[in-house]
Order: sequence, then structure tokens, then C-alpha cells
Amino acid sequence: MGSYDKKDEVIAALQARVETLESLLLSHSNFNSTYYASPHAAEITDDSCAMIPDRGMPASHVAEIINQFHSCDFNPRLNTSSYVNVVSEPEERQVAILGARVNLADASVYPASVMIHDTVVNMIAELWHAPHPTDGSGNYCGAGTVGSTEACLLAGLALKFRWREWYARTKGLDPQCQAVLGIRPNLVISTCYQAAWEKFFRYFDVHPKFCKPKLLENSMSVDAKELCALCDEETIGVVAILGNHYNGAYDPVWEINDEIQKVNQANGFQVGIHIDAASGGFIAPFQPEMESKPFDFRLSNVLSISSSGHKFGESICGTGWVVFRQREDLAEHIAVTVTYLGGHCDSLTLNFSRPASGVYVQYYKLLRLGMDGYRSKVRNQMKVASFLRESLRNMKNADGVNYFQILDAGGSACLPVVAARLNPQLHVPYDDIDLQHALSESHWYVSGYALGFEDPCGGDEELSLCSDVSPDTTMFRIVVKSNLTMKLAQNLKKQFEITLPILDTMEDGYRSMHSAKELMEKERAKAALDDVFVTTSVVKVAKKWMGMRKSGVQKLMGYEFMEEEKGSHLRQSRRGSLAC
Ligand SMILES: Cc1ncc(COP(=O)(O)O)c(C=O)c1O
Repeated sequence: MGSYDKKDEVIAALQARVETLESLLLSHSNFNSTYYASPHAAEITDDSCAMIPDRGMPASHVAEIINQFHSCDFNPRLNTSSYVNVVSEPEERQVAILGARVNLADASVYPASVMIHDTVVNMIAELWHAPHPTDGSGNYCGAGTVGSTEACLLAGLALKFRWREWYARTKGLDPQCQAVLGIRPNLVISTCYQAAWEKFFRYFDVHPKFCKPKLLENSMSVDAKELCALCDEETIGVVAILGNHYNGAYDPVWEINDEIQKVNQANGFQVGIHIDAASGGFIAPFQPEMESKPFDFRLSNVLSISSSGHKFGESICGTGWVVFRQREDLAEHIAVTVTYLGGHCDSLTLNFSRPASGVYVQYYKLLRLGMDGYRSKVRNQMKVASFLRESLRNMKNADGVNYFQILDAGGSACLPVVAARLNPQLHVPYDDIDLQHALSESHWYVSGYALGFEDPCGGDEELSLCSDVSPDTTMFRIVVKSNLTMKLAQNLKKQFEITLPILDTMEDGYRSMHSAKELMEKERAKAALDDVFVTTSVVKVAKKWMGMRKSGVQKLMGYEFMEEEKGSHLRQSRRGSLAC
């Protein structure tokens, strides 16, 4: 019995040994083979519920796996929906990698990197004509952030706490008493706000007071009088959008400044303006026509400005900037003082830790381009935008009717954005979102969207963004980033010219598709399913009615089929097609 026990032990030990040797052999062969000859290339994995692997793998194999995912992304250069810069120089990428190793929260270890941060804030504050700092530090008051969203949140918070102090002072109350803290103040803004502000309203308990611009008469630019008339004693500030993301129009900051002055004087308020210049912050200063239209700290009621470095600031990394007019009674409300190397400095950001890549690359870009470089770049972008706008304006169908109605602010004092919609007089059975999907056959991404929104603080009612069009009106935009050169724009024009007649010839197909969409909506409501999935039967009907293969349906309708064990489901992907 005893000798049998021993035999089993020996077998078990040998088995363990064999397994170790096998695994050593496997990892050794992994190290020596290319990814494609390694077991990883043929390994079936469930990426949706991945777990950390028991054993690591060679660095080149890991990089290859990530590259494979990356190659399944779209081509960002042909994405005209997004404002995000996607081109970079090799030196810039090296600088970004250098910055990735630096955590800016650790000012004691990285004082020189913090100095680069402060220098960039100073450069941008100068660009936006901020009043010179008076505290003797030589530094303007501002911060590098992850993007415009964080910058807007910070600016909004400074306004909220500034208002609280003012309100308490005016009413003779303690700012921390319930009578003050219990008030949910408001922020006045155009309905064409970007979703960054939805975060602000919801996270920081401020309710929006919306001003609806007109699309057809006023190109989505708010009326300064109407905007400022919304202010009351619970208003923390007014936001002017320097380049709304829908069509690139600037809110008239110069007029808003005058109007707010009047409202403040008449009511004894101290409402100030925040400029959300996510895109315009690095465009407007380089447009000659803006010399007669001050849009920044030259206007006395402008308290803060924010912008995205990774949009027209040309940074390749997520980067945002916020600059405050002053520290006193503004930035001080959100400042947390940190000590380092025997000194101390203000931290104005939501998060302490962040890589220095964005700061480094922004510094690189400001030095690399200089004022002259930004000017030429903006000139090119506006020129390409004009080319595309005129091309769309002149496109006609077989009966000589214009295909498009241009809906942007034109070629001057606005972002390099072309916005349009299919001419309503065409009465075609397809819409701008169908056009988006049809164009994507040629790899171009031109996002179409409906002009509706839901109140971020409640209610599911679909409201209209503009006072003169219904929420189901659709349009599309083409953002002319620096990578959208004339050569590429000519190709895009050609793709429009190829695609539109095809859509026209598919008339009945589109009519049935739209009927199918209506049916799907009804079916979804009936089945009380969530808003993502509709039933298999509807898909079958849709496919039958459309007489198309599912890939065609997916592309043209913006609906995506997902094969599941239970059968086919139709996933709605029409929502959220707007990128930042
Ligand atoms: C007007 C405006 N504000 C804020 C944002 C948010 O910017 P970010 O993506 O840099 O956070 C955007 C993005 O497009 C924008 O257009």
C-alpha cells in the first residue's frame, strides 16, 4: 500500500514537472516566434469578458494585439464629423511619449514640467488678451485640463461659488447657511450647447436656462438680448459659445457683453460671461475679420475662457485650457493650494494626477507653428471649407434642383465648418442621416443629426434646438480640420456627386426603409423593450420590405444587425453620431 502511495506521488510530481516544462517551452517559443507563428494568433478569446491572463506574453505580441484592435477603428482622417486633431509629426509623438512618463501632480519631482504648463497658460492668456497678472508671480490664472469638458466644469464651478458669495452678501446671509446653499441656481446658455454642459448641470446641480437660436434666420447664433433677458438673481453666469459644434456659428460675444452690462446695471447683478471656445479659441484669434469683433478678455464682462488644445489647438493628445480673468473672487473659489519644493502653488483642476503629454505637445505646437503658422493653417481651413460649401451649394439633381440648403454661418467669422441639409424642396425619401451612411461606403464619415434634444435635467420630451425648425429636422456637418486638405476635399466632393444620384435611383427602397423605421418604432413601444433592441420579427419585416441584404441595410439606415443566439436583433446606432 505504502509503495503504491509513493508511486502516485512520483507520478504527480512528474506530471507537474512536465506541465512546467511545457509552459516554459511555450513561453520560450512565444518569445522566439513572430506573433503570426505563435499560438496567440490562433487563440480563441472572449474579449467581452476578458480576464487578466495567467501568464504574460512577449511585448511585441501585446503590441500586435492592440494594433489589431486599432486597425478595426475607422480612418480618422476621413472623419469629418469630429473636431479632434488626428495628424502629428514624429517629433511631436516623441514629445508625447516623454510626457506620458511625467505625472504633473508631482510638482516637487517635475518643477520644469510644471513651468512648461505655466508658460503655455501664459501664452494662451496673452493670445486671449487676459489682463496682466497683478500678484507679482508673472503667471496668469489658468490651468491645463484633459479637454474642454473639464475646463468648462471648472469655469462653471468658479461662477457658481462666486455667485453664492454675491447672493449671500446681497441678502445679508452667511454663504454657508441653508437659505443660500438650498438654492439651485441657473446658468444661461444657448440650446446649441455641447454635452459638456449637461455634465455641469447634472453633476453640480445647476439648472439651465435655455435660449433658442434661429437656424434659418440667424444660423444658430443666439440673440444677445434674448439670452441676457433670461438672467435673474439666481443666475451664476452666461455662456457664449464660440463655435457651436452643430454648424460652427459664433455666439455674438461682443453683443452679449453689452447686453449683460445693461442687465447688471438695471438689476444690481454681477453676472459675468464664460466663453466656451472649445473650437474657436484657436481659430478666432487668427481670423483677420475678428479684429473688429472682440471676443475675449478685451470685453470687460468676460470672466473666463476655455478651449480644447486637441481640436484646432492642433495637439495630438487630449488637452484643454481654461483661463480666468483674475484669481480674486473667481479662480480662488476652486483653487486648492499645494506645496512643493518649499514653495506652493494653486491646483485648479478636477484631478491631481495627469500625464504631461498634453502640456508638452501643446507647447510643441505653439512653438512649432507660431502665430504665423496658426494664421496660415486657419486660412487654408477656411479656404477648403469655402470650396466644399460652394460645391454643395451648386450640386443639382437631374431636374436641375439644388440638392442642398446651406445652414452654416458662411465663410467668415465662424469655424471652418460646412453645414447643410438636403433641400426640403426635393421631397426625396431619404434624409441626411441616410446620406451619411450612403457616403460611408466610400469611407468618408459625414455625420448627420436631428435637431432635437432632451432637457438634461428631466423630461423625455424631444425639444427643438432652434425655434424655427422641428426637432426631427435633420442636417449634417463637415468639420474642416487641418488634415482635410483641398486634395481630400475634392475627393469628398466627388463622393457626394457619385452617391446622390444613386440614392435618387433607390427611391422606392428608401421609401420602404422609412416605413420600416416607423413600424419598428411602433413595435418597440409595443414590446416595451429598452431603446436598444427591437424584436426579431421586425427585423425580418424590415429586411423583407427593404429587399436588401443586412449589410446594405446596416450601412444605409444606420441600424446595425447583431447575430445573437436568440436570433437577429436590430441595434439602433443613429443616436450619438456626433463626435466631439
Ligand atoms: C462647444 C464645445 N464645448 C465643449 C466641448 C467638449 O470638448 P472636449 O471633448 O475637449 O471635452 C466641445 C466638443 O466638441 C464643444 O464643441
